[in-house]
Amino acid sequence: ETKPRTPVLWLHGLECTCCSESFIRSAHPLAKDVVLSMISLDYDDTLMASAGHQAEAILQDVREKYRGNYILAVEGNPPLNQEGMSCISGGRPFVEQLRETAADCKAIISWGSCASWGCVQAAKPNPTQATPIHKVITDKPIVKVPGCPPIAEVMTGVITYMLTFERLPELDRQGRPKMFYGQRIHDKCYRRPHFDAGQFAEEWDDEGARKGYCLYKLGCKGPTTYNACSTVGWNGGTSFPIQSGHGCIGCSEENFWDQGSFYDRL
Ligand code: SF4
Ligand code: SF4
Ligand code: F3S
Repeated sequence: ETKPRTPVLWLHGLECTCCSESFIRSAHPLAKDVVLSMISLDYDDTLMASAGHQAEAILQDVREKYRGNYILAVEGNPPLNQEGMSCISGGRPFVEQLRETAADCKAIISWGSCASWGCVQAAKPNPTQATPIHKVITDKPIVKVPGCPPIAEVMTGVITYMLTFERLPELDRQGRPKMFYGQRIHDKCYRRPHFDAGQFAEEWDDEGARKGYCLYKLGCKGPTTYNACSTVGWNGGTSFPIQSGHGCIGCSEENFWDQGSFYDRL
């Protein structure tokens, strides 16, 4: 209780803000407990009450006061084309704000597929040159938490781990926490027995779909997607895309937006 809370600066680049929407719905731990009791969320331009010059000044204050001791969380990415003009934050290109704020941080969390991989705004021909964080900031430890968005409890789980153990979680070779991204959706999917038995839905409304057969032939990307949806689940573990009758589109994988239609038949 006497330990100072770790300052977190949460920046928003080119993105849709649904990573934040996911985060605030975390049930275990509750997002309010993370924000009010576990970290000191000193800047987050979508959640903070203040705005304008005074709000922007907080970035500089934290940089100076907590040099090397704050966590930088980034949602979205910087577009590099036209000197970054496609994403302006605080009156200047987001890439400048990102570089400055990253310079003195302890570690970076790349929230979601925008920050981790580029996401749909980086889809060919990527007119704004949307670029993932690790390709712009190369001298800081980065934890990628991909997904579009990531699961709420995965987001708060990563923060909880970093605060509790004062180190980064063990990462795979792509920089994702192994504890949440160590298995494919397919490995723990409850429809897997149907896959193994050769029982597939062939149309969205056929008999197989009604019986809950495997969605592989309707384009499910579960066999090549690393994420925790089939174990942790969404909405407090209530369901996940496949349980709602839609195949996985691989939203946590690099280049999922350019790797074939979500509805490609196999
Ligand atoms: Fe939105 Fe997806 Fe980007 Fe998160 S990763 S900000 S949900 S587009
Ligand atoms: Fe695998 Fe998708 Fe079939 Fe589940 S629905 S068993 S993830 S192919
Ligand atoms: Fe995304 Fe597939 Fe999970 S689409 S939400 S990784 S089931």
